[in-house]
Amino acid sequence: MESFIKAISDRISVRTFSDQPIEKEKRSIIIDSLRSNQEGPFGNRMRFELIDLDEIDEKEIKSLGTYGMITGARLYIASAVSDTDRAMEDIGYCFEKIILSATNLGLGTCWMGGTFKRASFAKKIDASEGEMVPAVSPIGYAHERRTIKDKAIRRFAKSDKRKSWEELFFDEDTDTPLSQANSGKYETSLECVRIGPSASNLQPWRIIKEKGRETFHLYLKRTKGYEKALKGIDLQSIDMGIAMCHFELAAQELGLEGKWEEQEPTNAVRNMEYVTSWTHM
Ligand SMILES: Cc1cc2nc3c(=O)[nH]c(=O)nc-3n(C[C@H](O)[C@H](O)[C@H](O)COP(=O)(O)O)c2cc1C
Repeated sequence: MESFIKAISDRISVRTFSDQPIEKEKRSIIIDSLRSNQEGPFGNRMRFELIDLDEIDEKEIKSLGTYGMITGARLYIASAVSDTDRAMEDIGYCFEKIILSATNLGLGTCWMGGTFKRASFAKKIDASEGEMVPAVSPIGYAHERRTIKDKAIRRFAKSDKRKSWEELFFDEDTDTPLSQANSGKYETSLECVRIGPSASNLQPWRIIKEKGRETFHLYLKRTKGYEKALKGIDLQSIDMGIAMCHFELAAQELGLEGKWEEQEPTNAVRNMEYVTSWTHM
């Protein structure tokens, strides 16, 4: 049986692709995955489209603006969503499910929210006026050796490092870290959040466990100034959707069913934005 916990720990951003084409069967599984992940936990609907570079000319390929950053990829997934409340979280959640399904097929991907020409991708997928293209990803087989630029990007973003448990997870209030040892049956779900991808590897997710209940409150700790660069595209809220996806998939796989609902705690939390809460059912 396919394991999402394994996919979450295996996934890594791939920026150097081999020329091995994706088999027909795998391509149709990807297409199924694009079609079956179109509504996020906040109820926003979105669409995902495949862009096959073998079907477009060199000039159009260049216009997509991934050249230099991504090497060798022949296929891209592009997302499109209307600019509505919590659309970014929903894109993060659904796109990450697609990325993890691709990981389970042995394919490489790379979340891209900044280093591509948004307008060219939007044109390619016939985005309507109200639609934004928050993120895209190449998809294909990873090359066995990374390019020098790929290595440099990973080094620059410190992509192989993550914040510690103490910095991310809390017990009742932000003065009390939730240790791995005290997290009980939620250790894996939390670890799956911790090792997830995030824009510039900034890891803005914070989780506070409620005392005496199997309820986890998710907060966003923004990096100041980070959201200003991209009009309307809030990459750190996409990161929050990815965190929701990882927490839920890991919990589900371990037999912990739960639901997302707004249950903002009344005690004040400084410097963080409340997003949502997960409760065991
Ligand atoms: C929302 C989002 C946007 C991202 N945008 C880019 C991007 O524009 N270009 C890029 O090369 N990597 C991008 N990344 C990849 C991150 O740099 C990467 O996930 C992080 O450094 C951790 O490395 P890993 O994915 O290999 O675990 C993005 C990741 C996320 C989640």
